[in-house]
Amino acid sequence: MASSDPLVEAARGARKHAVAAFSNFKVGAALETADGSVITGCNVENATYGLTICAERVAMFKALSDGHRAFARIAIVADTEAPTPPCGACRQILWEFGGDLEIVLANLTEEKGRHQLKDLLPLPFDARLL
Ligand code: THU
Repeated sequence: MASSDPLVEAARGARKHAVAAFSNFKVGAALETADGSVITGCNVENATYGLTICAERVAMFKALSDGHRAFARIAIVADTEAPTPPCGACRQILWEFGGDLEIVLANLTEEKGRHQLKDLLPLPFDARLL
């Protein structure tokens, strides 16, 4: 299915900035706030490999650092036929700061699926349990 969703387009644009010299797997994300702002992110890899940060967390940390606190959805884009869902670490961070976001998965040409974060992270640990 073709997608003209502006959030997906923003994630496609962010992907172009990916710093992915080690995996060559470029990912873009675009996070929509409750009031309609869009904050983008791309994955950033470095020579230690382990300090890599995914596009989703870059977008969320940028948004938090700009003062945003309420979020509606996030689009995630990679250049693959199969959709690229957020990794476990990103699911945790997105849940803690974004709640039950809608997750829009797409590649460079089409949308690949929509999910609610609560379905991707069942029985989450978060601050309510501290
Ligand atoms: N990556 C993301 O940025 N988001 C995802 O949802 C999956 C993985 C990045 C991390 C790493 O830079 C590269 O993709 C390969 O795992």
